[in-house]
Amino acid sequence: MKGIILAGGFGTRLYPTTLVTSKQLLPIYDKPMLYYPLSILMMSDIKDILIISTKDDLIRMENLLGDGKRFGINLQYKIQEYPYGIAQAFLIGEDFLQNDACALILGDNLFHGAGLIKHLKEAVKRCENNQATIFAYYVKDPSRFGVVQFDEKNNVLNIEEKPLEPKSNYCVTGLYFYPKGVIKKAKKLKPSSRGELEITDLNNLYIEEHNLHVVSLSRGYVWMDAGTNESLLEASNYIKSIEEHQGIKVCCPEEIAYKNHWISKEELLKQGKLMQNNDYGKHLLNVAEGKIKY
Ligand code: TTP
Repeated sequence: MKGIILAGGFGTRLYPTTLVTSKQLLPIYDKPMLYYPLSILMMSDIKDILIISTKDDLIRMENLLGDGKRFGINLQYKIQEYPYGIAQAFLIGEDFLQNDACALILGDNLFHGAGLIKHLKEAVKRCENNQATIFAYYVKDPSRFGVVQFDEKNNVLNIEEKPLEPKSNYCVTGLYFYPKGVIKKAKKLKPSSRGELEITDLNNLYIEEHNLHVVSLSRGYVWMDAGTNESLLEASNYIKSIEEHQGIKVCCPEEIAYKNHWISKEELLKQGKLMQNNDYGKHLLNVAEGKIKY
């Protein structure tokens, strides 16, 4: 199983802030946005990860994350010349994937909630049985998203991209798990009227084959895309509030790597000491000293 973080785009809704930097390098409270999708893939037990972004932003992302060794993972990087749609990730990532199953996550998506890791691991397992998994989330304004239509028995009928009259309030979030063969399917897609290779079209191919499992995230979960000034601030406030309330951090790749036995205690202590001037570093030291129970 491999992972892709799609972290390109123009970020026009955050202009002027994103005129000279990537949205995905902006902080959500105390860490770069990219740490959140990276953590989700690592929580899914995925160690081989490709980061796709624009030419300029990729350099900065590589400066930040390097080859991934300090997180016990292998990171590769590839350019998306122009944002031609989410499903283009599979064409850009063809050499990297080599026909493996793949989890794809958007670089500006934040997921949080108890039990999430179980959901992630179940999605990985489903891939082994040739089933794709997507995660749906109840929203007030579904028209801005891909929207899932269910029948009366809650079976998925189809997904509509940005419908004027949405058939449900469940939108498709930016985390997708696909079994082997996803590249072949992505190659069948034609650009939509807005010129993009639509992830919704790919998902509908899996629905036609009865091979798409939709997990509806219940009300205990938080999902946000931090693509607007409002949602970016909301995401920061959310993370600040849960981290300060509990006194522990979420989505620290170093911690996940340590928990997964991908890095040693010495490596974690090294990372913690580098940042011991702030609560992020102190948290890593607390983890290394066994103060957090799992
Ligand atoms: P969007 O938020 O739809 O696009 P954007 O980031 O360019 O922002 P804006 O609408 O403000 O101009 O993209 C969602 C995420 O997916 C984001 O992390 C960027 C990424 N993305 C790509 O990297 N390439 C693409 O072709 C598309 C469509 C999205």
